[in-house]
Amino acid sequence: MGNGMKESRTAYDRPQAYELGEWEFYGLTLKVTPDVLIPRPDTERLVDLALAFLKNRPGEQYILDLCCGSGCVGLAVAAHCPAARVTYGDISEAALAVARSNGCEDIRVIDALKPPSPGLGPFDALLCNPPYVTDGDTENLDASVRDYEPPVALFGGRDGLDFYRALLPDWLSVLRPGGLFAVEIGFDQAAAVERMTRDAGLDGVAVRRDYGGRDRIVSGYIK
Ligand SMILES: C[S@@+](CC[C@H](N)C(=O)[O-])C[C@H]1O[C@@H](n2cnc3c(N)ncnc32)[C@H](O)[C@@H]1O
Repeated sequence: MGNGMKESRTAYDRPQAYELGEWEFYGLTLKVTPDVLIPRPDTERLVDLALAFLKNRPGEQYILDLCCGSGCVGLAVAAHCPAARVTYGDISEAALAVARSNGCEDIRVIDALKPPSPGLGPFDALLCNPPYVTDGDTENLDASVRDYEPPVALFGGRDGLDFYRALLPDWLSVLRPGGLFAVEIGFDQAAAVERMTRDAGLDGVAVRRDYGGRDRIVSGYIK
């Protein structure tokens, strides 16, 4: 991030969540620092989808919250599904420290842009809210995001799709047959990510909208 942007910072733009040091997500109050993305209401749709999937499945359910940041997605799933056993992965050790302070236990440094380590999984669901802003596209970001939230949580390559390309199909190998794959997307990325998900051979591929009616989640199931 260039100096110009830093000079343009104003106290007005500093997110309230970082001032407070905590933020609410899915009814949970989570610790947040400038090392993690502030959990967004739109991401709650990923939790809704996971809980609907887990509802009728007997026994312990193994979940991978990849690109976990504060741990908000996995923690919300675990709070509403006692049978969920969540593994939290992120490339940022600073973010994982925040996740740990929020009560996440099985925490791993994982690079989602590389294929999964042998022995990781199997999981019943892979949930991921990856960075998906186009590199350098700072003009369309609110100043509070651009100047304060961690760049590692935001940018997903030249077209914003690097993480989906890395996950599909390589990361499907960590899922059990019938397992759920679900990712958050940028509102204008549904067509591309839906196509990648179908091309990877998943069943029941669907796009779901956020509270504002914009495309926000792409999901499918392992055959
Ligand atoms: C959009 S944030 C999502 C955080 C959290 N899951 C949420 O929904 O608020 C993306 C997260 O991906 C992490 N990340 C960035 N590059 C990564 C990589 N190559 N492998 C794994 N995690 C990565 C960032 O550190 C950040 O925590």
